[in-house]
Amino acid sequence: MCGIVGFVGKKQAAPILLECLEKLEYRGYDSAGISLLSDSKITTHKTTGRIHKLNELTDCGKSLVGNIGIGHTRWATHGAPSDRNAHPHMSNDNKFSVVHNGIIENYIELTNKLKSQGIKFNSETDTEVVAHLLSMYYTGDFLEAVHKTVSVLEGSFALGILCQDYPGKLICVRNSSPLIIGVGENENFIASDVTALISHTRDVIYLQDGEIAELSENEVVVFDSKLQKVNKEKSKINWNIDAAEKGGYNHFMEKEIYEQPKAVKDTIEPRIKNGKIVFDDLSLSAKDLSKFNRIVITACGSASYAGQVGRYVLEELLRIPVEVDLASEFRYRNPVVDQNTLMLVISQSGETADTIAAMKEAKARGAHILAIVNVVGSTIAKLADDVLYTWAGPEIAVATTKGYTTQLALLYLIAIFMAEKTKRISDVQTSALLADVEKLPELMQKTLDMNQNIDQLSKKYNTNRSIFFIGRNIDYAVSLEGSLKLKEISYIHSEAYAAGELKHGTLSLIDEGRLVVALCSYEKLFDKLMSNIKEVKARGAKVLSVAQEGNTDIYTESSDVLLVPRINPLFAASLVVLPLQLFAYYIAKENNCDIDKPRNLAKSVTVE
Ligand code: G6P
Repeated sequence: MCGIVGFVGKKQAAPILLECLEKLEYRGYDSAGISLLSDSKITTHKTTGRIHKLNELTDCGKSLVGNIGIGHTRWATHGAPSDRNAHPHMSNDNKFSVVHNGIIENYIELTNKLKSQGIKFNSETDTEVVAHLLSMYYTGDFLEAVHKTVSVLEGSFALGILCQDYPGKLICVRNSSPLIIGVGENENFIASDVTALISHTRDVIYLQDGEIAELSENEVVVFDSKLQKVNKEKSKINWNIDAAEKGGYNHFMEKEIYEQPKAVKDTIEPRIKNGKIVFDDLSLSAKDLSKFNRIVITACGSASYAGQVGRYVLEELLRIPVEVDLASEFRYRNPVVDQNTLMLVISQSGETADTIAAMKEAKARGAHILAIVNVVGSTIAKLADDVLYTWAGPEIAVATTKGYTTQLALLYLIAIFMAEKTKRISDVQTSALLADVEKLPELMQKTLDMNQNIDQLSKKYNTNRSIFFIGRNIDYAVSLEGSLKLKEISYIHSEAYAAGELKHGTLSLIDEGRLVVALCSYEKLFDKLMSNIKEVKARGAKVLSVAQEGNTDIYTESSDVLLVPRINPLFAASLVVLPLQLFAYYIAKENNCDIDKPRNLAKSVTVE
């Protein structure tokens, strides 16, 4: 959480910093600030609220001089959102300015030590101590001061630093928090994420943990933790600029919902060649795959709900046990995994702190780590034994949509690939399953087209203060995501229940007019679900059903019905989730919620 940027070049820095920060706002948006270095003086402007407030205060940066600067958009962890706690933080001698993403875990100990030496602190943040340490260690050499400071810090930190005595130099550090360098023509950048940079450059350098980089207008020099120079390769970003813009849609979430057929196509198509799945660069042979007697899926949020769907599909095709564990629980659970365990790590950003910790824990115990990640070069992608990318393009809205459905698509491919390689399914079955998967992009488009009037339903149901989602089998797994989508962006309380669990407690919450969203695509258990629908209706609930086209029975018991095209039930989640995303989107819109940036949330959760 928190986004950081930096610029050094010939142009006026402030407008560039502010524009880049806007692209990173999804990482946190409770306060923002920038520092500029000009005429051997650092000036800092910061405020609570969003980047547009900083834009207003500075005439979009035009009123601020300087060709070098750093910027920050904050998601508060230590200290409430306030002007004082907003970054950048300055040393008391005004020599250093620092922006930080991550958590300095030993900041209390360090702060107390500095306070006992008479150093005054001006904020409640863990970051400020970095500025004071820099000033304390500084003897005229900027890089040396940074190196000494970093060596006493514990925790996760990506830092951008200016020093008043070095008018053309910006130093950055990466340790367990994302940070990349953008290399331009007579200008260089730092940013938490590529989306901030693609309108300026496509050449990036990915830093490793512990590395320190010195940026000037014409040069980027990277050092390892012992201050030895490191040769770094530049990588090309192939995302296009439009991908990081709204492109005529009202919200990024809306745009990303409608991008899903293409994103899933991009994820699937290059991997199916001559009727077979080809995963380039996967190190696992058929023999390796056969040794796994268990799969553990770990992830957070929607990625873990994608894993819940994956479990049904993997177990069905592989006939080995599959567990889905929340990363935040797995990491502290003394988990039982060994070298016969395949761990699937799912993460859109590739930077989620708990997911990284869970994967490290499993790796240390011998598990083989196969990561499903969207962001190339991210921490999870680098740490995993194998990585398969979801080619969803940048996802900006905090609530994931295309991240989730591309994760599902890859999970299907992994399940079919493993089943085929380990001879659990025949060639004929493989072809049939792949044919079904290949239909997904077209059927997803059809689903979106079929549900264009869903905004009408949101007008009918937006005043419900508590909404329940029920389903069985894969429908239950999708209900978890449907419920999360609704609550995170509309602030309406919502819960998902395995329909069979209703009688064990939830039924007591059903009263007159309560909305229950019933997912009925899994037709093997349709009669059972119908009984559950009758149970809630008998207690006064209104039922909004989601069913496969051609299911006429569902109309008798539903207030409203949303349809999805018919598909192999193993892959139905990819269609069923679409009307649920739209439903959540329109309810939130109807209630005037800040859809792309829901309160208290951030997209990339890089702290515990
Ligand atoms: C945040 C996002 C969710 C996401 C979760 C896990 O909560 O808002 O959309 O599912 O983090 O993120 P990851 O990047 O690991 O998929």
